[in-house]
Amino acid sequence: MDSERQTNSGLVAPETGNGALYSGENPLRKLWERPVLNWGFPTDTTPLPQNAVICADVKDALPSIASRTVQLVLADGPYGKALEKVRWDNQWRGLKQFLEWYERCVSECLRVLRDDGACILFGQIGKRCHWFIHLQSYLSLRFPDHFFDRIIWDRIVGYSERRDSFTPAHEEILILRKSATTKFRKDRVREPYTEEQQRQLMCDERYKNKKARKEHLAKGKYLRNIIRVPSLRGTSKEKCGHPSQKPLELIQALIALFTDRGDLVLDPFLGSGTTAVAAQLLGREWIGIEKSRRHCRRAQKRLAKQATAFNPGDVIEPRPGKMRIYVD
Ligand SMILES: C[S@@+](CC[C@H](N)C(=O)[O-])C[C@H]1O[C@@H](n2cnc3c(N)ncnc32)[C@H](O)[C@@H]1O
Repeated sequence: MDSERQTNSGLVAPETGNGALYSGENPLRKLWERPVLNWGFPTDTTPLPQNAVICADVKDALPSIASRTVQLVLADGPYGKALEKVRWDNQWRGLKQFLEWYERCVSECLRVLRDDGACILFGQIGKRCHWFIHLQSYLSLRFPDHFFDRIIWDRIVGYSERRDSFTPAHEEILILRKSATTKFRKDRVREPYTEEQQRQLMCDERYKNKKARKEHLAKGKYLRNIIRVPSLRGTSKEKCGHPSQKPLELIQALIALFTDRGDLVLDPFLGSGTTAVAAQLLGREWIGIEKSRRHCRRAQKRLAKQATAFNPGDVIEPRPGKMRIYVD
């Protein structure tokens, strides 16, 4: 039997680690006293192939992935009734079923992660349905010791112009970690300073090691927890027909931050294949799971068209002056 599963995907008792933060009087205590849900034991013992699109429901494919093999799970999954007319975003009877479905999915994702791995979950709220807010709170309570960070993707380009509320222009990204040793290569993704900014910042007397300071400024500043990358316009060359396709630049940045060359990246909701393309360009292995045959075909076509991988030492600047990725 898989020992990972017996430990509830690594959820620790509330008395230890960060779980202690939630002990005592918290009225939601019952939430973490309940054993973590998962999708049971693998029905198929054939390991999933790498660098391949698996056309299947996530609940059938995820249990076949061996424990502690994946470095990064990048899941841009359903948001929970935020997209009113999209079938895959309306597959649950209600909020409880959605939260428990997601808990099972995250529990499997944590199981397959290596000890220094991370799990990135995208989401957004809809105009009428705000399930992603509940999901973030629920997962933080169910997996208290796995919380790593919560960041904002500023899409710059707003969408669904609304007359009666602010124009929505961001998505939220919850990051969970397998353990406290999460691989995080902060150095690798930077926002360049202009020459004028570099000159001014060099005058700061607090930095005594001028050579190191100059090198740091020349590379650029570290990413803040609000990442500004424009969402894809309908006319974008990158766009290939998926309604919620993510920009390659954003996914490349996240992969570069949480993995090294040769690591395995898993996307359980592959869509048009953005994660697979980004992983391939950066020299990572990947597995992509996607339920829709149409999207699987789309992803495969897109992968076949991709240019050759970047070389170690390359500096990628998808929008010059905005973001730099230093390829390892
Ligand atoms: C938000 S989209 C992912 C878009 C992707 N990041 C891209 O850049 O193209 C979510 C995807 O998850 C897929 N999906 C939804 N429920 C699923 C399930 N139960 N199993 C596998 N895939 C699922 C949908 O078909 C959809 O393509």
